Amino acid sequence: MSLTIAVSGKGGTGKTTLAGLIIKSLVNRGKKPVLAVDADANATLNEVLGLEVAATVGSVRENVLAGIKDLPASMSKSEILDMKIQSSLIEAAGYDLLVMGRPEGPGCYCFANNLIRDIIEKLTDSYPFIVIDNEAGMEHLSRRTTQKIDILFIIANPIKRSVLTAKRISDLVDEMDIAVRKKKLIINRADGELTPELIDYIESVNFDIAAAIPEDRLVYQMDSKGQPTYDIDQQSAAYQAIDRLIGDLVQAAS
Ligand SMILES: Nc1ncnc2c1ncn2[C@@H]1O[C@H](COP(=O)(O)OP(=O)(O)OP(=O)(O)O)[C@@H](O)[C@H]1O
Ligand SMILES: [Mg+2]
Repeated sequence: MSLTIAVSGKGGTGKTTLAGLIIKSLVNRGKKPVLAVDADANATLNEVLGLEVAATVGSVRENVLAGIKDLPASMSKSEILDMKIQSSLIEAAGYDLLVMGRPEGPGCYCFANNLIRDIIEKLTDSYPFIVIDNEAGMEHLSRRTTQKIDILFIIANPIKRSVLTAKRISDLVDEMDIAVRKKKLIINRADGELTPELIDYIESVNFDIAAAIPEDRLVYQMDSKGQPTYDIDQQSAAYQAIDRLIGDLVQAAS
């Protein structure tokens, strides 16, 4: 089986935190290897995972375009890019992290960009499970992630305005011709049950709700101490809710 999960939503709704918990759940369930992709130019997924980033796809592109002198002339640009991108992968227990880094500049280095797309496509093909953390908004999704997405989780907080924004993102995805099979809403930082008004609203705009993830003090405590939330206790409420969701998803996909 293979499963590509992407997380999107408005700024600060909890995309990166939940992406980290999704990776943790897949790894704990033995759904390995997972490729974690940080597609946010302001990369923070590594912080949630507790990993150091030395190189990104963006920095590799810049270095190669700037001309690399210390590489054998016998290698083509494509081989150099491939090798450098492979070596920018950060290996962790049960998963690898690929950090996209800074987006392409205004100039079109189409040659390099097309090569990079091909290399990443080949790379992602070798992972059965992929989790992509995105930046707020959707525009870059079409430009930077060419692989198909089985499920796009759009994260909102438990208020109507936030769901409205999530719905707009969902509509934008429909208009943008991105290869997304399913889109589902996740309400994050829910304080107890969702109100009937909120549930009615979600239904009235035809949004499928996948899960409500509770507000979790442990997440806050770890974040405020700068500890990776990937290491959160498995009994924590937020992890338990994500793990149930991933359990169902994995079962449905197999
Ligand atoms: N379920 C939760 N319980 C408690 N705190 C949470 C929960 N989910 C996220 N947070 C907190 O919300 C804040 C924002 O989370 P996060 O960085 O994951 O959001 P984001 O959507 O990735 O933000 P950005 O748009 O800047 O990338 C963090 O301080 C995190 O600790
Ligand atoms: Mg984030």
